[in-house]
Amino acid sequence: MMEPPALPIDQTAAWRALASHASAVRQRHLRDLFAADARRFERFSFRCGELLLDLSRQRLEDETLRLLLDLAGEADLPRWRDRMLAGEKINLTENRAALHTALRLPENRSLVVDGEDVVPAVHRELHRMAVMVDAIRSGNWTGATGERFRHVIAIGIGGSDLGPRMAVEALAPYREPGLDIHFVSNVDGADIARATAQCDAAATLVIVASKTFTTQETMTNAATARDWLRGALGGAAAGWARHFIGISANPQVPGGFGIPPERVLVFWDWVGGRYSLWSAIGLPIALGIGMPRFRDLLAGGHAMDEHFATAPAAENLPLLMGLAGIWNVNFLGHDTLAVLPYDQGLSRLAAYLQQADMESNGKGVDRWGRPLGYATGPVVFGEPGTNGQHAFYQLLHQGPRPVPADFIVPLGSHYKLDRHHDILLANALAQAEALMCGRSREQAEAEMLAAGKSPAEAAALAPHRAFGGNRPSTTILLPRLDPFHFGMLIALYEHRIFVQGCIWGINSFDQWGVELGKQLAGPILEELTGADIRHHHDAATAALIALAKGRSRS
Ligand code: F6P
Repeated sequence: MMEPPALPIDQTAAWRALASHASAVRQRHLRDLFAADARRFERFSFRCGELLLDLSRQRLEDETLRLLLDLAGEADLPRWRDRMLAGEKINLTENRAALHTALRLPENRSLVVDGEDVVPAVHRELHRMAVMVDAIRSGNWTGATGERFRHVIAIGIGGSDLGPRMAVEALAPYREPGLDIHFVSNVDGADIARATAQCDAAATLVIVASKTFTTQETMTNAATARDWLRGALGGAAAGWARHFIGISANPQVPGGFGIPPERVLVFWDWVGGRYSLWSAIGLPIALGIGMPRFRDLLAGGHAMDEHFATAPAAENLPLLMGLAGIWNVNFLGHDTLAVLPYDQGLSRLAAYLQQADMESNGKGVDRWGRPLGYATGPVVFGEPGTNGQHAFYQLLHQGPRPVPADFIVPLGSHYKLDRHHDILLANALAQAEALMCGRSREQAEAEMLAAGKSPAEAAALAPHRAFGGNRPSTTILLPRLDPFHFGMLIALYEHRIFVQGCIWGINSFDQWGVELGKQLAGPILEELTGADIRHHHDAATAALIALAKGRSRS
């Protein structure tokens, strides 16, 4: 039974104990915690295979972790985890399981959901994907004029775009030659126009990825791509469907668009959009890096699933990372999170995690609809280092509101430019050190005096050049950004988000908050394109609609 708990989590003894513990911890500086414990790094860093999670620069003490683990028990976290992994319908508002982990199960496992083992279906679809990848790459599948495909335009949005787009970029060193891949998500015509301008229609494969196959942005872009192909294929226009693949959890709908069943890959309603890169939605990844490497990605995700399911609480990376986040948000009052990958390949990680985290945990009621009296998901943002350093790190170092940061650092590089990688690593390590240690006014002043400044100048500048430090950060080390470790990393974040959702008592798998704006856009579109304004709007919206109606069209 999934009954509501008697007490909201913020009224439990575990929460209260953490709140009073926090007032003591707030007085202490991370520098002092390190000075008092020579083994702090060893004791607060945790491993899963070759991935290392260093929480030693979080403002945690042994007592903090002990109390946070009590809180996890209070939230019944192990049971919710087991329910998720067993395929129970924990997405209560949509009466669905949240079973993205099943997409990563090896073929010899089984998992029965609604009386049916889902693993054979997962592997059947992976096999269909492998056959398609092979047919496209070998030139067995061609376009309507008989040309082999050289370009892919992958159309989708949200979870049907962000994961594949991030992964194709992250795994660029593993790309097989011969196919360039363009992603189109925005309904702004610039997106599809720019993509088609770079492709030769006769050699272009269009992938339309949408769980529902009804999303306005995706269907508008897909229709424009179809028009473009028909127009450009001339005498072969009737064969436009040979240029399309549809991916959906609703296998009937792509047929309505004109894509025949043998060109449709499916997944299931128990895969949330933002957890779907492991499913057929990952086709652009598989086309880019080949199916064996896509399977390595799945294996990395599965290794993290096994760890999450079986590692003891005190060594469980997603659990501990999630708890550290809870500590920051709810007890230290830090409600943002900077995602700082020191790898250019992870340039889309922050965008991906914005959806994964904010769509999952940006909730104001619990699973049973009761309003929450505490903060939930943090505001996530980020950029790859070192670009972020020269943009927003100023605020991270000296702004009055501390912003916890995740440093994601692959130790090895795929590029034989050692000097670059050494500089990159040095910067990652230095930034985390600076955030933690800071620099006192006295130090700043002494440095300036040593550099020849006058005492008056040094005293005047010292407050500007001092850093308080004590800013929490997590470092994640990977041996390199290969498909396996990339899979581990993404699954680590997925489970970290789930852990936090469980503690907050929310349903991390629905997203009702995206509906209202979509609903209101319908009547406004009618008004923008029709003769008059027929719906009631607030005064600002009505005035802006009137202005937009008067615009000159291109
Ligand atoms: O509007 C939000 C959302 O429903 C996301 O959750 C989802 O990933 C995205 O839209 C795209 O949906 P679909 O895959 O059905 O096109």
